[in-house]
Amino acid sequence: MAIPDAYLRKDWQMIHGVPMVYAFSLDWDRIDNFQSRPDDIVIATYPKSGTTWVSEIVDMILNDGDVDKCKRDAIFNKVPMLEFAAPGKMQAGTEQLAQMASPRVVKTHLPVNLLPKSFWEKDCKMIYVARNAKDVAVSFYHFDLMNKLHPDPGTWDAYLKKFMAGRIAFGSWYEHVKSWWNKKKDHPMLYLFYEDMKEDPKCEIKKLIHFLGKDLEESVVDKVVYNTSFEMMKGNLTANYRMVPTAVMDQSISPFMRKGVAGDWKNHFTVAQNETFDEDYKRKMADTTLQFRTQL
Ligand code: A3P
Repeated sequence: MAIPDAYLRKDWQMIHGVPMVYAFSLDWDRIDNFQSRPDDIVIATYPKSGTTWVSEIVDMILNDGDVDKCKRDAIFNKVPMLEFAAPGKMQAGTEQLAQMASPRVVKTHLPVNLLPKSFWEKDCKMIYVARNAKDVAVSFYHFDLMNKLHPDPGTWDAYLKKFMAGRIAFGSWYEHVKSWWNKKKDHPMLYLFYEDMKEDPKCEIKKLIHFLGKDLEESVVDKVVYNTSFEMMKGNLTANYRMVPTAVMDQSISPFMRKGVAGDWKNHFTVAQNETFDEDYKRKMADTTLQFRTQL
């Protein structure tokens, strides 16, 4: 067994040209050769885009809004992260998934070209959630401060440059959101936006219900909306990541459920950083129809 602390705060490891969390990069064959099931439901996101939020919503929908059932286990066990690994500390995502009954809900942050082929071949349903780059950068910076599986992010200014260059876990945000958007054309995929979910959660939850082929009464839909609000999830031990050992995530540095808003970037970007970011953004996003809102 690996010595646990041997992979904490280590630099990214390149996997098929993409910077990967060191602990996840070990034994990558387990990902390339992963076998999906036709009824798997994939939740794919760039990190910090509302993955946990949508995962909890999907679990509630599949369980017909039964709050007690949804508290049966931590979110990272109900919806395992495919590529996750922390040898000696927590079970790997592939091991968790192998033991799960169908239909499995599978979380991943992998870019399109790293997702195991099996998911495309079996035509699995996929939900992609995208969030505006500025809020993702701020959220990811705070996450790197407290998540010891990632290298220390350094100063905010240095981190923002790394974000723009894609020298962070799972690579370029720009490439991630664009390539998943392009895949939507030839695959059963629901592409959602964090900002839309903030603005009108009920409307986006109804899209999810429809996509998952469920038919829930209005009162159940309201229950899902209520129980998946930021405040409710922040106070829910099975949803707020407090069940992750502090040796891995130290929430006294920054809580996993941090702010949960659109537009927090304004509290962190300087005017100069914002100008440089916007210029670079225009260039990188010139070849897509994808549009983001950075405030509501
Ligand atoms: P902030 O750091 O901006 O607060 P992920 O689950 O992909 O890692 O994303 C985490 C981000 O989603 C965090 O953003 C977290 O606070 C936010 N989040 C989690 N649950 C949420 C909810 N129910 N409503 C709104 N935002 C939520």
